[in-house]
Order: sequence, then structure tokens, then C-alpha cells
Amino acid sequence: MAYLIAIDQGTTSTRSMVFNERLQVIALAQQEFPQYFPQSGWVEHDPEDLWQTTLSTLKAALAKAQLEAADMSAIGITNQRETVVVWDKDTGKAIYNAIVWQDRRTADYCQELKKNGSEALIQQKTGLRADPYFSGTEVRWILNHVEGARAQAEAGQLRMGTIDTWLIWQLTGGKVHATDATNASRTMLFNIHTGQWDAELLKLLEIPASLLPEVKDCAADFGITDPAILGAALPISGVAGDQHAAVVGQACFQAGMMKSTYGTGCFALLNTGAHAVNSHNNLLTTLAYQLNGQRTYALEGSIFIAGAAVQWLRDGLKIIQKASDTQALAEAADPNQTVYLVPAFVGLGAPYWDPEARGALYGLTRNTGPAEISKATLESIGYQTRDLLQAMQADSAGLKETKTVLRVDGGMTASTWAMQFLADILDSPVDRPQILESTATGAAYLAGLQQGICPAPEQFAKEWALDQRFTPTMNQATREQKYAGWLDAVRRTRSSLA
Ligand code: G3P
Repeated sequence: MAYLIAIDQGTTSTRSMVFNERLQVIALAQQEFPQYFPQSGWVEHDPEDLWQTTLSTLKAALAKAQLEAADMSAIGITNQRETVVVWDKDTGKAIYNAIVWQDRRTADYCQELKKNGSEALIQQKTGLRADPYFSGTEVRWILNHVEGARAQAEAGQLRMGTIDTWLIWQLTGGKVHATDATNASRTMLFNIHTGQWDAELLKLLEIPASLLPEVKDCAADFGITDPAILGAALPISGVAGDQHAAVVGQACFQAGMMKSTYGTGCFALLNTGAHAVNSHNNLLTTLAYQLNGQRTYALEGSIFIAGAAVQWLRDGLKIIQKASDTQALAEAADPNQTVYLVPAFVGLGAPYWDPEARGALYGLTRNTGPAEISKATLESIGYQTRDLLQAMQADSAGLKETKTVLRVDGGMTASTWAMQFLADILDSPVDRPQILESTATGAAYLAGLQQGICPAPEQFAKEWALDQRFTPTMNQATREQKYAGWLDAVRRTRSSLA
């Protein structure tokens, strides 16, 4: 029996999972790490925490599986996207904390890019928008604000990378500086049509090319781990940003297939095949995955706060003890109250793109309590997904005729209440697979594909298994009335900037 190990380095925790060759999970280890909020709207991670939690979860997962590193055929890496680190190539030390995808510190600069007309260029080349969400403006911020950084960058002393790249560097003992095309596609520096870093964008954002990693396919040779680290030299052979790995793990290999992952945020990706669809409805054009040099594209809707809103109920408001408590609370909520939560804690992502908006609750009465707020939180995830789906339908003519089924995954999909509400508000079936760990499965699959252990995509797709299909039961009038209330709540929450 061959084994694979996948690292899923996420926004709030790092997980490592051991899989057998049939991609069944044998063992899982997970560790949270601190979040730093140095100023309002800023979000940072200590890069050393990201590496150390990776290392300790790798070891813990192997111990749980009662296996050694030498028993693993390969490592796959998947990661929170856009979050970026800049480090010294000789010391391997980061020169600043990792700036997280949720960070809004470059909002003013992005506004400038919009005003001076650069957004069109960014959009045309990268499929993205001028938004602090993406790595490019954050790297520029580091080079401009860390003392001596710009001079060091120009002297070729620094390296940058999304978290996959940072972990590959660490795992190979500083020997390999590489990324995959999906992670590259989120930096605002990568031309998704040519598959190359873009000199014009590097110039615009004042980032020297010497900082950049080599870009590879998602299933490729990303180097061998330093044997001193895990006790064996293992090939790293699968890498993809977490949302792209979930597309693979959900076997959305055909154009028209769509998945939505509910983690910290929610990210819906619609596979558009070899065709990069230009969005006219505020979605992103991105890579779904790249295999054998072939780029497969996707339309993406990105929501910044989904599971993080449930985390806020637990850690901020302290009205629940664990995420699953929301289910019973939502069921017990007073049906006569209409409460909306617009979870714009770090601004609003697609389709609104309003970095200055902040969260709001509407419709509170003296009877409103934890049950109604929990229900509004779960509902906000459904409403936001509908915003995305409507934009996708408008962008993709084919979808209007054939109703696409949404494949869901991620921690929040364990909530049957939330999934039923999602199907109801979308007026579309929602499929929850047996394996909810689509992201890590995707990374393990990519690593196994490269090693010849896992089957080709067509065969892998046949093995995707349904757990439950949620079909809409809400009547049309209720659905539209509720959604209209949401749109009104969003309208009232938006900043004057947007
Ligand atoms: O784009 C950000 C995304 O990759 C983060 O994913 O799972 O940490 O919410 P997650």
C-alpha cells in the first residue's frame, strides 16, 4: 500500500493528513496559530508559526497513522492563497510578518490604481481586480515600509512567496523557490493568458523580478524534503491554492461544474475549461488548475467571511461554545423576526468589492437573542452564495439553461440547516460529498498523480461519492422576499468608497 501526506495550511489552522492510495484519510492532525491584528483592517501571521505548525502536524499525523515519513510516497501542499511572505535568501528569515489575504492596508493604494486607470490592465492580464485581497500590493507595502527592504530587493537578496512557496523553501532546506500556477494566479503579478510573470505589472507595482519563484504545473516536481526535517527525503509533487485543490478534490474537471468551499471565507469556482471567461459581473477570472502545461480556467466568486462569522459568534460574542451549536439555535429562532447579518468584517468581496465596508446587524428588537443572531449568521452565508451564483449565471450564458448543481465542502457543510437554507435560497440542488476534506484530498491527489499512484482525472471523477443532496423546499415568494431584504441590508452597509 502506498501512502501520501497532504499539508493544508489554512487561514486559522494548519492541518496535515495521511491518505492511502485510494485517497482515504488515515490520520489527521490540526493546530491553530495566533492571528495578529496590529491595526484596524490589518491581519498578519507569523511565518515561523506557519512553518512550525506544518512541521508539528506532519509529525503528529504520521504518529497517529503509525507510519514513518519513509512510508510516504510524496507530499502534497495546499494553502490559504494570496497571503504573502518576503524573506532573506541567505538567512531564510522573513523580513516582516506574512500579510494575510484579509488585510486591507493597501486599500488607498488600490483606490489610486483604480483612479489612474491601471485596474483595466490588471484585470485584462490577471483576471483580478485592484483590491488589497491579492498579494502584489502587499509585497510592495513590505518593500516600501521595512527599513532597507527595497535596497535589498534590488540587490537580489530577497525572495517572496505565497505560503506554498514559503513551505517548499522550508521543507527543502532553502533549495527550491517554486510555486504552482494557481497560487501564482492570485498574486496580481502573473499573466493568466501567457502563464508567465508579467514584466509590465512588476513595473507598475515596483517589484523586482528576482523576488519571484519559478511557476510549475500543479502536479510537478517541487523538490525533495531535506532528510534532516522529517527523517526521510520525500518528493513534493502536488501543489495548489486551497480553492483550486478543492476543485480537483471535488472532481470538477468538466466545464460547467462548480464547487463552493465553506472555510474561513467562501469561494465558489465554476470550471470554464480552456476558455478564460472575462467577467462583466465583478467576479474573478482565475486558473482552476494546470496539468501537463494545460491551463484550465475558472470564474471565481470570493466571499471573505463565512465560517469566520461562526468563529466570531464563538470567540467574539461568546454566544456559542462550538460551531455546531448554531444548528440548534437556528432551529429555535423566532420565525417572526427578520434579522440580517452582513458580515463585512474585512470589507465585502465579490460581487461588491468594498474594502471599507464594515459588518452590520439589522432588524434587532428587544426579543433578539443568540438564536436569531446565529440564524442570521448561517443565512448570511446562503445569501452571499446567491450573490455569487447570480453573477456567475449572468457571466456564463450556458449556465442559464442548464441548472448547475453546486458541490459543497468545508467545515460549515456539516450544518444540515445551513445547507438546506443554501439550497432554498439558491433554488438549486446542493450536493454534499462523502468526503468533506476536498482541499486536502485534491492536494494528495495531485501529488499521487505525479507519482503515478493516483488515476487520471476521468477515473478519479468516477469515484466521487455523494453523501446528501439538498433540494429546495422554500416557496418562491418567501425566497424572493428574504433575498430582497438581504440586498437592502447590503446596500445600507456599503461604504461611500464603493
Ligand atoms: O483566498 C483565500 C483562501 O484561499 C483562504 O481559504 O480556507 O483559509 O478560508 P480558507
